[in-house]
Amino acid sequence: MVISGSTRILGILGHPVKHSVSPAMHNAAFEALCLDLVYLPLPTPPDKLAVVLDTLEAVNALGCNVTVPYKQKVIPLLDEITPLAKRIGAVNTILFKNGKKIGYNTDGRGFSVSLSEELGFSCPGKKAVILGAGGAARSVADRFLELEAEKLVIANRTESKARALADHLKLGFNREIISVNIGDPELKELISEADIVVNTTSLGLEAGDPSPIPGEWLNSKQIAADLIYNPVRTTFLKTAAGFGLKTVNGLGMLVFQGALAFEIWTGKKPSIEVMKTAVADALGL
Ligand code: ATR
Repeated sequence: MVISGSTRILGILGHPVKHSVSPAMHNAAFEALCLDLVYLPLPTPPDKLAVVLDTLEAVNALGCNVTVPYKQKVIPLLDEITPLAKRIGAVNTILFKNGKKIGYNTDGRGFSVSLSEELGFSCPGKKAVILGAGGAARSVADRFLELEAEKLVIANRTESKARALADHLKLGFNREIISVNIGDPELKELISEADIVVNTTSLGLEAGDPSPIPGEWLNSKQIAADLIYNPVRTTFLKTAAGFGLKTVNGLGMLVFQGALAFEIWTGKKPSIEVMKTAVADALGL
């Protein structure tokens, strides 16, 4: 990669960002298309979010990604936000254009593209159970409903958060949306009739983390999806595979949300293969 006097900057803004593979993924994709762009890790302390954004804009950066813990906090600092990002209440991609900071959200679409590309799964008429009610769950839930899923169950350790998310979703979609505590025995019945179960909780990130639900609640006609990509197979996915389910991890979502952000910044489609290879190399897979 050649960095010249006219190279424009992009990056990932979060705290921490040292484990992010987005720099490897985007730089490989820029290089493959000979774009004069560079993507940097931008570790941003909590009190410096506004300063970092203003500085990026001042030095003619093209855009950035936003990750934990700033996807919601960044919204008041933006000049514009797409209706989708507003509805979700989170921004993962920013474009600096004509003196404006414009916020987008590509997480939900990245997730659904990953499901269709990797497993041929389509949402219309399907029943989905989402484990977790945090920022990631919001994007996934909104996308399922946008793509005409028939029924959605939000199961969370803190039930009030599941209820709040379900209530929020019901404002935008006239669909059957249920909230439940993840430990409630009623969840077993709700899972038994689901087409897909998605783990959006952070349970699985640490070695030795258990599956958020018992494998016995699953059946082999279902799909188990985990947004976690490191480790590549969480206990949830291993357990689900043991019960005969098709499984998909978060690598596809990572790549496809990145590809959508790439298009917003450059107007060009990146090579998915190049991005996937760069991510696999960065993770040592
Ligand atoms: P993200 O942006 O990745 O979604 P988040 O907003 O912090 O992160 O949400 C984390 C989710 O994982 C929450 O649903 C959280 O449950 P609570 O709302 O009860 O905190 C869930 N989570 C985290 N640790 C968990 C655990 N040990 N067991 C079950 N759920 C867990």
